[in-house]
Amino acid sequence: MISLRNIVFIFSIFTLALGRHTLKIIEGEDADIKDYPYMVAFLQDNATMFLCGAAIINENTLLTAAHCFFYENPYTATITYGATIYYEGTKRNISKAFIHPNFTGEYASTNDIGVLKIDPPLVFSETVQPIKLPQSNTPNPEGKIANFAGWGISSFDLFHQTIKLQKVNLTIVDMKTCVEIYKNTDTPLDPETQICAQADMSDGKMRGACYGDSGSPLVVDGVTYGITSKCPGGCGNATTPTIYTRVAGYLDWLSDKL
Ligand SMILES: *[C@@H]1O[C@H](CO)[C@@H](O)[C@H](O)[C@H]1NC(C)=O
Ligand SMILES: *[C@@H]1O[C@H](CO)[C@@H](O)[C@H](O)[C@H]1NC(C)=O
Ligand SMILES: *[C@@H]1O[C@H](CO)[C@@H](O)[C@H](O)[C@H]1NC(C)=O
Ligand SMILES: *[C@@H]1O[C@H](CO)[C@@H](O)[C@H](O)[C@H]1NC(C)=O
Ligand SMILES: *[C@@H]1O[C@H](CO)[C@@H](O)[C@H](O)[C@H]1NC(C)=O
Repeated sequence: MISLRNIVFIFSIFTLALGRHTLKIIEGEDADIKDYPYMVAFLQDNATMFLCGAAIINENTLLTAAHCFFYENPYTATITYGATIYYEGTKRNISKAFIHPNFTGEYASTNDIGVLKIDPPLVFSETVQPIKLPQSNTPNPEGKIANFAGWGISSFDLFHQTIKLQKVNLTIVDMKTCVEIYKNTDTPLDPETQICAQADMSDGKMRGACYGDSGSPLVVDGVTYGITSKCPGGCGNATTPTIYTRVAGYLDWLSDKL
């Protein structure tokens, strides 16, 4: 079940008009939580409504998108983790939330980053593990493959939100190209705080992050370079890459929250 509120606003409502395409997000590949043990689901309404994804950074810290909690009270949210089918995961409450103070809630806003604390800490296992943050001087992994996972919708026609973790390979788009694509649009790219990724759509199928994937990490070689933020051209648009918050641009802000 997905409500409009659940369509985490950052993905433009305009794209709903494209719902006639048979849009298969993430192209039907089931993932196993053992391969993505850092994945966490955020639920709202007494854990009945899926809201966003997030990533485990350490035993009591999660990284997500600010927009997931801009209109939602983080202290009434529930997280689930350690399960491929999100509602089968262990449930926990959030003890503290840090939403970036300069996230404005506008679609064009950067600073789409938030940290959530869990107390007592998570217990790590085969299905519960942290993911690394990038180093401050690490170059963007342009051209590399990101193994992306999420519980976002998997079919646009039915507006079907998956209960089973899905995966798709994305390529990190080089920054110059992405800046060029978003130049003179209402969501210009800030190369310091944003990074782009795009699925291979050369077979003509639309794929990539979509509603509900917000907050999920963009991971390359075990490092989370991005946080799913917005899809200005709509989900699975072959000409407009998905925009992620560039984690390396927020290491100072994160340092006292880990
Ligand atoms: C929340 O869900 C639990 C478990 O399903 C239930 O016992 C509880 O009454 C619910 N609380 C509210 C406020 O609906
Ligand atoms: C979360 O908080 C609610 C309200 O305080 C409480 O009823 C519930 O048991 C808590 N859930 C967990 C998993 O700790
Ligand atoms: C928020 O923006 C103000 C004004 O540009 C700046 O001084 C401040 O450092 C920013 N806060 C953070 C946490 O980046
Ligand atoms: C995704 O990338 C991995 C390498 O990171 C590769 O092993 C796998 O075959 C790719 N999957 C698809 C569907 O291209
Ligand atoms: C992709 O996005 C561009 C720019 O917003 C738009 O003009 C185009 O119609 C979109 N394509 C599809 C297939 O939605």
